[in-house]
Amino acid sequence: MKEGSIYDCNVVLLNKVHNRAGNITIVEGNESIPFPIKRIYYLYDIPSGENRGGHAHKELFQLIIATSGSFDILLDDGKNRKIVRLDRPNYGLIVVPGIWRDIFEFSSGSVCLVLASTKYDEVDYIRNYDEFLKYKE
Ligand code: TYD
Repeated sequence: MKEGSIYDCNVVLLNKVHNRAGNITIVEGNESIPFPIKRIYYLYDIPSGENRGGHAHKELFQLIIATSGSFDILLDDGKNRKIVRLDRPNYGLIVVPGIWRDIFEFSSGSVCLVLASTKYDEVDYIRNYDEFLKYKE
């Protein structure tokens, strides 16, 4: 989806069931999020100062959640940019296709959970920024 815009990438409030023994957040496909969940992966043990991302996807939708700790996500659609900070386990960021993203400022022990709309496919990645800008023209 080459027309994907950063204005389509919104932070959504997830649910939180709270009791004295702690909290639980439930994410159900087609209810909390606007795509079917085909894959879940998570980033963890990220060394201090490291960046992740540095690519775009052509078709993949994602919901990104800071299940522990915090990090910043730079979103870039070739025209506009914004930085979103995720720091609560009951909020998630929807990232539509056609968005370059960099993830950085990971706090110590943070976990970045990603719910994705398709299985892993390297062909869906654009890993070169100039190529991304050409794709978006
Ligand atoms: P990549 O998506 O580039 O990582 P990030 O955006 O977190 O910096 O993936 C890192 C490596 O992991 C890359 O070699 C591909 C591999 N990988 C899989 O094999 N399957 C997957 O579902 C994902 C997300 C990555």
